[in-house]
Amino acid sequence: MKILVTGVPGQLAHCIYDEIQSHFIRDEFLFTDKKTLDITDFSCVDNFFTEHNDINIVINCAAYTNVEKAENDIVGAFQVNSRGVKNIVDACEKYDIALFHISTDYVYEGGICMEDAPLKPLSIYAQSKRDGELHIEKSNIKKWFIFRTSWLFSEYDGNYVTNILKKAQDITQIMYGVTDEIGCPTYARKLAAILINLIDTEKYITMENGIYNVCGGGYTSRYEFTKTILGGYVNLPIFTEKYTNDLDYNYYAKLLHVNPITKVEAYKMFNLKAPRPDTVILNNKKIHSVIDYDEYHNFITNDFMRDSWENDLADCLTRYNELHQD
Ligand SMILES: NC(=O)c1ccc[n+]([C@@H]2O[C@H](COP(=O)([O-])OP(=O)(O)OC[C@H]3O[C@@H](n4cnc5c(N)ncnc54)[C@H](OP(=O)(O)O)[C@@H]3O)[C@@H](O)[C@H]2O)c1
Repeated sequence: MKILVTGVPGQLAHCIYDEIQSHFIRDEFLFTDKKTLDITDFSCVDNFFTEHNDINIVINCAAYTNVEKAENDIVGAFQVNSRGVKNIVDACEKYDIALFHISTDYVYEGGICMEDAPLKPLSIYAQSKRDGELHIEKSNIKKWFIFRTSWLFSEYDGNYVTNILKKAQDITQIMYGVTDEIGCPTYARKLAAILINLIDTEKYITMENGIYNVCGGGYTSRYEFTKTILGGYVNLPIFTEKYTNDLDYNYYAKLLHVNPITKVEAYKMFNLKAPRPDTVILNNKKIHSVIDYDEYHNFITNDFMRDSWENDLADCLTRYNELHQD
């Protein structure tokens, strides 16, 4: 089988690539970035699929993900997250391709959410993502799945974990964490493993079309998440080997002191515009009824067997350390 993964060099596409490298996967994968396949450009998409007419599955990781920027760039966000998805949908219908699309917890109103929970996309980003979902739901694609995920992180730049670690490099920075925003941190590598498992085992063939929540185990506040990230960081060799001196103790103590703030305070302090739901806890039961847990655990690396965001974060930090060691 031939699988197209859009959205290189984004973190999820990167993690899918990594997962394929660490397992024996029979299928052929093709990865595209904005230059090779700009999903907003109808003729570019059409030409691409005409040329590659043997693609069986598209995993669409391409998205406009800058939630704050989207508030002032409505056209840009909708162009990628809605129009771009429609272009992919058209190609999937035309060439009878299965579609695995990634969406967000931000479309939910809030609380503990099964897939049929009330929706209330507050931000431009969330509204554009919901619009994209609707194109898929209304389509005639034979096999389609929308995977709603949350608080996606990885060792690759541009997500909450790496942003906190970047901030931590600056000794003058004061660390803050929001106490009243609750969600489920999800290691992109775990989501990648689930997607590949569904394909490799051909489970997707009998899986019902529809929406599936996929997130890491457990939930937390941004504040606790930030504290756990920094607590893990100060124990990594890239930190301990660099800061061995007693004089560094102040820096160490500072990193471990995260200041709790409310969401309202954070919006003022950081001049944030995009409204976000207070609490979204994704209920994962539906996807776990499809994936046999034992088989899934055997498929992915042993470390993934401990299903909690804390363990996933520890794995991510270990890989972050490997990436940043001289
Ligand atoms: N990050 C999160 O916390 C989070 C949470 C919930 C759901 N999600 C969803 O998860 C999926 C993967 O997110 P991610 O974190 O991997 O995002 P990411 O790191 O921002 O990657 C998105 C990729 O899409 C590319 N892209 C943007 N416009 C494109 C276009 N017109 N054509 C082709 N590619 C384009 C971007 O390229 P450039 O960088 O060159 O623009 C980027 O490489 C997205 O659907 C996102 O909405 C993310």
